[in-house]
Parts: sequence; C-alpha cells; structure tokens
Amino acid sequence: MKVFVTGGAGYIGSHTCKSLKSAGHEPVTFDNLSTGHADLVRWGPLERGDIADRARVVAVLRQWKCEAILHFAASAYVGESTEAPLKYYANNVSGSISLFEAARDCGIDRIVFSSSCAVYGVPKELPITEESPKVPINPYGRSKLMVEQILADAATAYGMRVTALRYFNAAGADPDGEIGENHDPETHLIPIILQVAKGVRPAVSVFGTDHPTADGTCVRDYVHVSDLADAHVLALERLPRQSGFTAYNLGTGRGWSVRQIIEAARDMTGRPIRTIEEPKRNGDPPTLIANPTLAEKALGWQARRSGLQGVLDSAWRWQESDRRH
Ligand code: UFG
Repeated sequence: MKVFVTGGAGYIGSHTCKSLKSAGHEPVTFDNLSTGHADLVRWGPLERGDIADRARVVAVLRQWKCEAILHFAASAYVGESTEAPLKYYANNVSGSISLFEAARDCGIDRIVFSSSCAVYGVPKELPITEESPKVPINPYGRSKLMVEQILADAATAYGMRVTALRYFNAAGADPDGEIGENHDPETHLIPIILQVAKGVRPAVSVFGTDHPTADGTCVRDYVHVSDLADAHVLALERLPRQSGFTAYNLGTGRGWSVRQIIEAARDMTGRPIRTIEEPKRNGDPPTLIANPTLAEKALGWQARRSGLQGVLDSAWRWQESDRRH
C-alpha cells in the first residue's frame, strides 16, 4: 500500500515508516520539518509541506497515488499548549480538518490518527480502558479529542474507515540504532535522564515527590516506539475489514515511577545521575496506565519490546550514537 505519512520526519512517524517498509508498504513522508528531521526519513520519499495547505496535500497524494493516510503531524508539547492554545487548535484541529478535506478530494477513505492518553485527563480508575471518561486537562489533550470526534463524525457521514491510536508514553529507539528521539527542546523524562548520565546535562528535575503514588513520583506506562510503529501497520492493514471509527489504547498495562526509571538508568549506565526535587508540573496526572487488551485482541498487537530494559537500552544506544545530532 502507498501510505501518506504526515509527520513522518518525527519521532514516532519515522519509526513507523521503517515498520511500514519492512511490512512491504511504501511510505511517503509529508512534513513541514518544523520539528521533524529530514535525516530520519530513510524508507521512502520526503515531501515538504504543511497539512493546512490543502492544494499541496492533494498534489502530493495524487503524485504518489497514495491509498491511505497515517496522520502524526501535530504540535505535541503539553506545557506549551497551555501557553499557546491557539497554536495547538490551529495546527492540530484546523490543520487536520484541511488534511481530511484533501483526503476526500482524492477519494481516500482510510486514516490512522495519532491520538494520546492525554484525552483521558486524570483517570478515576486504573488501568484506563477505551471506555474510560475523556476529560482532557490541557489544550493539547483537548485538541486530540476534538480531532477524534471530527473523525468519528466524518467516518459516519462519508463512510471513512478511521482508527485512532491513543499512545501512552512513547519511549526508546529503533533496536537497530538507525533512528531515535531528537526533540528540541527535549522535555521527556527518559532522554533527559540519559543526557544527565552522558554528562551533557547537570541534573534531572523530579517534578513532584508528593503525588499519591507508592514513592510520591508520577507513574507512567512507557511503550517502546517500535511497538507503537508496529501497531500502525496492524491498524492500517485492518482498515479494509473495519467500518466507521475505532480507538485503541497503546500501552503495556504496567507503570514505572520517575524514581524507578532513574534507578534503572543508574544501574544500566553505571553512571551517577544527579536529581533535583522540584514542585509538581502543572497538569501532570499522578498515574497513567493503559489497559491494552482491545488492541491486543482486535489488532493482534503485543508490546513485545516494551520492558523497561528494552526501552532504556535502545534509548541509551541512541544517545551515545554518532547518528544522533
Ligand atoms: N518528568 C520529570 N522530570 C523531567 C521530565 C518529566 O520528573 O525532567 C516527569 C513528568 O512529571 C511525568 C513523567 O516524568 O510525570 C513523564 O514525563 P514526560 O514529559 O516524559 O511525559 P508526559 O507523561 O508528560 O507526556 C506524555 C507525552 C504527551 C502526552 C502525555 C499524556 O509526551 O504527548 O504523556 O499525559 F500528552
């Protein structure tokens, strides 16, 4: 299948292009490179452009005869979304609408959308199922939920086939060491910890030590980015046998606290990792853990690389690699 991949030069998008290629598909990356990196695009062409530019999207879809869309492109910093909400609604919601209109212009009815556990807000019960209440607590999460709702309506009205994948905490890097995580600025816990281990940062801040968790620090469900990538291929291949809109949680069902991750990283790297205790970060839910049963059953998906060791090992190899810039 020829697949149009918005945000294919980003972290999860680039890993998915690798999985698509090894499953025999042809990814065409469409990215404005505002946060993506051209050198992460290795398994198909890179077309520069913005999802809000409907004419450009239509031209590229037609040029490459794309049959389906994987939609990763988005602004994705929770903190920034509280300071610049209009940027988030413009890029993530308006941009997506324009993209879906372009899809309709070209008769494309298959879409896999990158959603987030941020749609759930602060869960009342754990683990989180797809049916759990969706009460996002920041503009980023609201923008993702809005796009899900738009897609559900579009699927009903136009007969589109749509899957939303709600990622928990994406982490790790390609096990072959070809690509990995390169955010600028980096705000995510695991790369920051490893940069401290490497000596390029002095310390890692621990945001909140009085959360209602076993050790007082936040607990997250870290899922290997290559497992997320595989889920996209499975979701894409299932679309012809699905009608309407479906959403799946992508997580492991197991949570790790900030302190546990730091300890595990000290053990693995054999390096001291200095910490600084800081106040809670705004809008940080204490615990987010997925129930991934639906994705396992319906897609045949397994988070097989997602143990803490697999995530940390691959992320550390990428941090130490010359390919990272
Ligand atoms: N944390 C620290 N110190 C840091 C960075 C993070 O203590 O320097 C803590 C955070 O407070 C949080 C945990 O480590 O408890 C994980 O933080 P990340 O920033 O790595 O990830 P988040 O859980 O905040 O965010 C992720 C995704 C978002 C998604 C969100 C859903 O990156 O895209 O989960 O809540 F929206």
